[in-house]
Amino acid sequence: MIQKLFDLSGKVALVTGGSKGIGQAMAQGLAAAGADIVINSRNRDEMDTAMKTILGGTGRKGHCVVADLFKRSDTVALAREALDVMGRVDIIVNNAGTNIVYPVDKIEDEGWDRLIELNLTAPMVLVRELAGQMKERKWGRIVNIASMFAMRTKGGRGPYSATKAGLVGITKTMAQELAPWNITANAIAPGPISTPLTDRLVQGELRDYFNSMLVVGRWGKPEDLVGPVLLLASNAGSFITGTTLTVDGGWTTR
Ligand SMILES: NC(=O)c1ccc[n+]([C@@H]2O[C@H](COP(=O)([O-])OP(=O)(O)OC[C@H]3O[C@@H](n4cnc5c(N)ncnc54)[C@H](OP(=O)(O)O)[C@@H]3O)[C@@H](O)[C@H]2O)c1
Repeated sequence: MIQKLFDLSGKVALVTGGSKGIGQAMAQGLAAAGADIVINSRNRDEMDTAMKTILGGTGRKGHCVVADLFKRSDTVALAREALDVMGRVDIIVNNAGTNIVYPVDKIEDEGWDRLIELNLTAPMVLVRELAGQMKERKWGRIVNIASMFAMRTKGGRGPYSATKAGLVGITKTMAQELAPWNITANAIAPGPISTPLTDRLVQGELRDYFNSMLVVGRWGKPEDLVGPVLLLASNAGSFITGTTLTVDGGWTTR
């Protein structure tokens, strides 16, 4: 009974940015729960290696798509290829994202536009392109990976916070509009998780500051997102929609 709540057999999950970090760990968790998996990134070799780990021993099917989500046309093509190859997408995990740090009076137009395109527009496009076929089956799950910086911020994080707060905003609308077809939409707001992104961007004094904010006394690991995504991607989360699940080691209690 309990296992059945989380069982994703027969479902197809699209996890954007599944080639490393949080995305890879979530894709691995979804495959272990029985889902077939589509991932994308800009690097074919990295994806092929990641997919072996994601599927390892599960017997599930996987497909990798080279798609640069800074480009609108690639995002649309990703949705179409996922459908063409797998025949359906039941679960969308909008995970691909990045951070570009600028003080508000020094934001460069190109960086701002790229960040909005990847972190906010791509999730909208994928839901726009894929919600129709979810409606036909009267079942769907949308999980948007936001950030604690949707609720909190820090110098230089203006553009990032804006994209993630925007994602939380549209998640609530997705939840309202798609509920009649048994489609839920939720966000996850991670705190500091050790990944290639944060290993690159959070160093020195900034790392000390992050450490001081973590109530649980440690950084998160990508695997800490597996339980949360399985809850929101399965029947276990049927009555949860429009919410943001904070997974931040207690940061936002400070
Ligand atoms: N790590 C944290 O502490 C943390 C905290 C809060 C929220 N988040 C959010 O969690 C998500 C994943 O973060 P992460 O730390 O796991 O990042 P990561 O280690 O840098 O991985 C990001 C993934 O997204 C892909 N990606 C990046 N830019 C892309 C583009 N233009 N087109 C297609 N794919 C792209 C990357 O592949 P390629 O670069 O090879 O294309 C990679 O697969 C992001 O949305 C991030 O904002 C992370």
